[in-house]
Amino acid sequence: MELHRDVERILLSEEQIKKRVADIGREISLDYQGRKPLLVSVLKGSVVFMADLMREITVDCDIDFMSVSSYGKGQKTTGVVRILKDLDHDINGRHVIVVEDILDSGLTLSYILELLKTRGAASIRLCTLLDKPDRRKVSVAVDYSGFTVPDEFVVGYGLDYAELYRNLPYIGVLKPEVYTK
Ligand code: IMP
Ligand code: MG
Repeated sequence: MELHRDVERILLSEEQIKKRVADIGREISLDYQGRKPLLVSVLKGSVVFMADLMREITVDCDIDFMSVSSYGKGQKTTGVVRILKDLDHDINGRHVIVVEDILDSGLTLSYILELLKTRGAASIRLCTLLDKPDRRKVSVAVDYSGFTVPDEFVVGYGLDYAELYRNLPYIGVLKPEVYTK
């Protein structure tokens, strides 16, 4: 199939992801009993994770989206964070869970978390599907993490390279020649 041509190998299968997302949903549901968390998805990489995760959460919750740019078309971080779309919600007094696709250098997330902290949330937690600790430049506390991944560029299940491969149902390692071309 066309879409799969640039994938070197599957790192996390659909089944593995589904099971882990259900586990995290169960954990969040227990932790937030009697509260109504606001799930904040950071566009666009986390939309697939968000869509699956929210359906595994059994307490009332609402959702919001925010979009920042820290990456250009390539796979290297620039350190520049710009807000492209801010939240619709006032988060004052809310229990916020930031939902991310991958924690890499941590630059994007630490910026977002610092910003949200200035807005009076009752609590802010971080939920990331993937954690790539080898690449961390600033330390970020993770409350819910799906999988630790090696220092390789991964795509699929929302994650892109140059906006492609987000619709792969699994997470795979991209063939290096795709981005060294
Ligand atoms: P950070 O500021 O370096 O932590 O950037 C995190 C963002 O970089 C993620 O939300 C992704 O959009 C992108 N990113 C980092 N590593 C990868 C990868 O392996 N595949 C696809 N996107 C990645
Ligand atoms: Mg991206």
